[in-house]
Amino acid sequence: MAAQDPMEDPMSLEGKVVVVSGVGPGLGRALAVRSAQAGADVVLAARTESRLAEVAEEVAALGRRALSVPTDITDEASCRRLADAALEAYGRVDGLVNNAFAIPPLADLGTVDLDAVRAGFETNVLSTLRLTRLLTPALAEGGGSVVMVNSAVLRHSRRTFGAYKMAKTALLSLAQSLATELGPQGVRVNSIAPGYIWADNLKWYFRSLARERGVTTRQVYDETAATTDLRRLPEPDEVADVAVFLLSPAARAVTGQCLDVNCGEWHH
Ligand SMILES: NC(=O)c1ccc[n+]([C@@H]2O[C@H](COP(=O)([O-])OP(=O)(O)OC[C@H]3O[C@@H](n4cnc5c(N)ncnc54)[C@H](OP(=O)(O)O)[C@@H]3O)[C@@H](O)[C@H]2O)c1
Repeated sequence: MAAQDPMEDPMSLEGKVVVVSGVGPGLGRALAVRSAQAGADVVLAARTESRLAEVAEEVAALGRRALSVPTDITDEASCRRLADAALEAYGRVDGLVNNAFAIPPLADLGTVDLDAVRAGFETNVLSTLRLTRLLTPALAEGGGSVVMVNSAVLRHSRRTFGAYKMAKTALLSLAQSLATELGPQGVRVNSIAPGYIWADNLKWYFRSLARERGVTTRQVYDETAATTDLRRLPEPDEVADVAVFLLSPAARAVTGQCLDVNCGEWHH
């Protein structure tokens, strides 16, 4: 199906194909589902096949096509299979959301294991570049859009987050340099930087903090939310929608930018 006239509904992804790397239970799932709700067919990539199958079912229930391709983005051959499978199934790729990530050990830079820091770079930066490069020819055919999922760790330098911040800062640089390199081919490259995301992992963490302190989970939530302008924490769909915006024709003049999605916890 041809992409529709962007002036009809600039927020629509109707007729587009979006590849999402790192389809996990949190943001990855939301990115795939919200892209489908915006009209896209999706390609789902992560290592856990059962998760891909679950999300593919959700997408199919929305009346959109979902192709599941078990993928390890640190593996060149695996990424090639993903790119080939996407093009064979749909004949085009219009959007790529690089969501897959690895958190390096949370430890001070003075003591952190350097091999683990290196491994963090491999997944978060080099593998993201690898996948983006493989899909660039397809993205360039239709004025494609790449979204890198970054983090609010860009905005602070708290202890133990050093290795993660190094990787995500490099990912931001990658996005900006790629925006300059690929812009002449009509490919846009942007980033989103979520902070807290009110999904299963954070809910589990707040429950354990509440138990430790003998308070309710609600209290932990409220105390954390009090540090944001909107007094609440973003939900996965709210973060995903900003990526959908950047994928859509509504953002056709936006490239090289990073949009923070944090209910106003950090200003940038
Ligand atoms: N959660 C937060 O609070 C938060 C805050 C700020 C920023 N972020 C960013 O948001 C993004 C998503 O975070 P999330 O916590 O919501 O995770 P998620 O989307 O639920 O899951 C991410 C998935 O990435 C996949 N992955 C990891 N290594 C991979 C590899 N080598 N190849 C392919 N897939 C791989 C994992 O699935 P498999 O194991 O099945 O491969 C994992 O389930 C990340 O980029 C993160 O930095 C998250």
